[in-house]
Amino acid sequence: MQTLKVSLAERSYPIHIGVNLLSRADLLQPHLKNKKAVVVTNVTVAPLYLDRLMATLGVLGVDALPVILLDGERYKTWETLNQIFDALLDAHCERSTTLIALGGGVIGDMGGFAASCYQRGMPFIQVPTTLLSQVDSSVGGKTAINHPLGKNMIGAFYQPQLVLADISTLDTLPDRELRAGLAEVIKYGLIRDPEFFDWLEANIQLLLARDRQALAYAVQRSCANKADVVAADERETGERALLNLGHTFGHAIETGMGYGEWLHGEAISAGTLIAMDLSCRIGLVTVDDVFRVKKLFINAGLPVRGPQMPAERYLELMRHDKKVQDGKLRLVLMKGIGEAIVSDVASEREILASISACCT
Ligand code: NAD
Ligand code: GLY
Repeated sequence: MQTLKVSLAERSYPIHIGVNLLSRADLLQPHLKNKKAVVVTNVTVAPLYLDRLMATLGVLGVDALPVILLDGERYKTWETLNQIFDALLDAHCERSTTLIALGGGVIGDMGGFAASCYQRGMPFIQVPTTLLSQVDSSVGGKTAINHPLGKNMIGAFYQPQLVLADISTLDTLPDRELRAGLAEVIKYGLIRDPEFFDWLEANIQLLLARDRQALAYAVQRSCANKADVVAADERETGERALLNLGHTFGHAIETGMGYGEWLHGEAISAGTLIAMDLSCRIGLVTVDDVFRVKKLFINAGLPVRGPQMPAERYLELMRHDKKVQDGKLRLVLMKGIGEAIVSDVASEREILASISACCT
């Protein structure tokens, strides 16, 4: 097992990464002193891992209530959030009850948002079970639900007290979801870790074959990058925005196509290639760089072209992006492999041209 730390003064917390961590009562024990918990999960993850986690909580003498939600990005809504509040209130949960999110990024984001609001904040633990949630969404405290007009538009910054990334849970993850997670892994190499990008080029097939050692390394290296960025800029006033490479375009794809149609990681993959094209168009990266990045995403089995939607529709959806400032669109662009910037220099004409060039 490896342990990393997200350093945020009194809100610092550990990320444990390893196999069979769901059974490790010793890792949960320091964070469950109050002996009361609610486990928020969904109908897919519950039959796979809920019993194991409940048994571990039982060893600790924790009285735990499961809350099992419907599965899918399209349920990341007010209505589903309210089901969590209904369950908490029905069970007379006090604000010292710990909310444990067991599942992928949808459960983690929604569970975290519920924890941030219930009685103005309750303790929160992330137990991510997808590659994407282990390398990205469980770390850093961004929580949210979707709005019909935009992805993750309603939410809060709320840090967990612990992240328990059990690599063994990835055994049951569908291939498509594994590939989607790789999009966020590649992101770290692209924006700030060129050595990791080289490693990914050499080892992508091992990751796709679910080699445990390779997966554990990719999760650990991704989390180390994310922990550094979050420690430096928790509330995204600067560097943290770089973690949104491909997201302005990707969120437009997710919202425009209907939540769940394109997986988050797939939309980020296509969005990153649009950002690369734009970076090349305005002279920040070379055609060779674009080719290299495209090749890695193709080798990871990810889409490198966006869906057919009028370029103006993309732009309309992108105007809801959280990086818009004074009405001006700011995008994460690449300056080379391993270096990203936030920039507003691309003109609307150039953005539209890149969308048209990169979408079928
Ligand atoms: P997800 O939560 O929808 O999980 C993907 C699918 O895998 C679901 O059907 C889920 O039930 C299933 N699943 C989960 N664990 C499984 C397992 N071990 N075995 C079998 N099936 C399993 O999707 P995701 O890719 O994990 O997360 C995407 C979400 O994360 C999006 O809503 C995105 O906006 C959000 N996100 C948030 C952040 C953040 O910083 N908060 C960062 C990136 C993404
Ligand atoms: N996934 C983007 C962030 O956490 O900032």
